[in-house]
Amino acid sequence: MGEHPRTLTIDAAMARALELAARGPAHGPNPRVGCVLLGPAPDGRAAPDGASPESLDPHPRRVLAEGYHRGAGTPHAEAAALADARERGVDVAGATAVVTLEPCAHTGRTGPCADALVAAGVAEVVLAVDDPNPVASGGAHRLRAAGVRVVRGLRAAEGEELLRVWLTSVHRGTPYVTLKTATTLDGYVAAEDGTSRWITGPAAREHAHRVRAEVDAILVGTGTLLTDDPALTARVLAHHDAAGDGRLLEHQPLRVVVGLRGIPPSARVRGEGGELVHLLTRDVGEVLGRLAEREVRHVLVEGGPTLATAFLAAGAVDELHAYVAPVLLGSGRRAVDGLGVATIADAHRFRTVEVRRVGDDALVVSRKRTEGRDG
Ligand SMILES: NC(=O)c1ccc[n+]([C@@H]2O[C@H](COP(=O)([O-])OP(=O)(O)OC[C@H]3O[C@@H](n4cnc5c(N)ncnc54)[C@H](OP(=O)(O)O)[C@@H]3O)[C@@H](O)[C@H]2O)c1
Repeated sequence: MGEHPRTLTIDAAMARALELAARGPAHGPNPRVGCVLLGPAPDGRAAPDGASPESLDPHPRRVLAEGYHRGAGTPHAEAAALADARERGVDVAGATAVVTLEPCAHTGRTGPCADALVAAGVAEVVLAVDDPNPVASGGAHRLRAAGVRVVRGLRAAEGEELLRVWLTSVHRGTPYVTLKTATTLDGYVAAEDGTSRWITGPAAREHAHRVRAEVDAILVGTGTLLTDDPALTARVLAHHDAAGDGRLLEHQPLRVVVGLRGIPPSARVRGEGGELVHLLTRDVGEVLGRLAEREVRHVLVEGGPTLATAFLAAGAVDELHAYVAPVLLGSGRRAVDGLGVATIADAHRFRTVEVRRVGDDALVVSRKRTEGRDG
């Protein structure tokens, strides 16, 4: 893996493992995971099995190897770190494996990571987040059964934040839903005649394309498809390019159209880009179920207002990306068409996690309030 830090405490190794994990792709069915292998604990400094993260050895140790998962079809982080150790010719017997997610206990394309760590002679595993995946969980149990000490929960909050989309999707069995809107300051997404290109500026559109490259699927209703004829690809936009064309990014999300009307043969969505899926339904639950079957973990709903309203009314939106442009229309289509809210107490409320200026526009990122966490 090239140069890595020479010594780290276990806590700093977890910070490093999280940093490595984030280098993996945000899209795809698998979680982003990082792993750092540290040299054995000197005598008397090993934490007992099941110890709290606070009681871990605070002294720096030698970094033996590291690795991270580069996406489905490539080695898991632990396997990548063990391969890195082999390449470097370092012995990992007695080592501590610092991993951002509980090592898996299932046989996929390779054997279980828990077994690989045991076979390599690793003595201790420190992990941030337990694996909720029913297929892969049980790694900690397997490690303990083989005599490996396991400490869980180190930097757990950071690990959970990194894996937020994946954890939500795996826990629930349906994709994480991000709803994107591009509105005027007075809340419109299109003028009275249906035109909406462009409300936001090139920087916001460029940003939105980068987000597309991080999700597994983009979704629009047939209304948007027929009015706007979008290509639904992830592209690098040239700012002078008013048509919004540009080079296709490496990852192209699935293009999903929802609704009963047909997709015209000449629709741009049929052109170069991700696979096109037409879901002949108006049922949000069915849409999410069909996407889950395809291992979609993160779907970006791009409108229009009818589809956005249906997702909000179903309580199916986990995150909002609201691009707001300093533009006024005074009339037209609202971003959301009516949620049956008659009184303020029934308002749909989210929690803002980020506000950022993107060119002349603002981006507000808000998330669903989770009970207990947001009060
Ligand atoms: N600024 C923005 O962010 C933005 C984004 C997107 C669109 N727009 C604008 O929005 C306008 C299009 O609005 P729209 O509301 O017609 O678009 P839409 O929400 O994309 O499509 C609505 C259609 O989707 C189908 N559908 C799918 N699921 C449904 C459900 N649960 N309930 C009801 N219908 C469902 C229905 O058509 P079937 O009869 O085929 O089933 C419905 O007529 C355009 O002017 C476009 O420019 C703006």
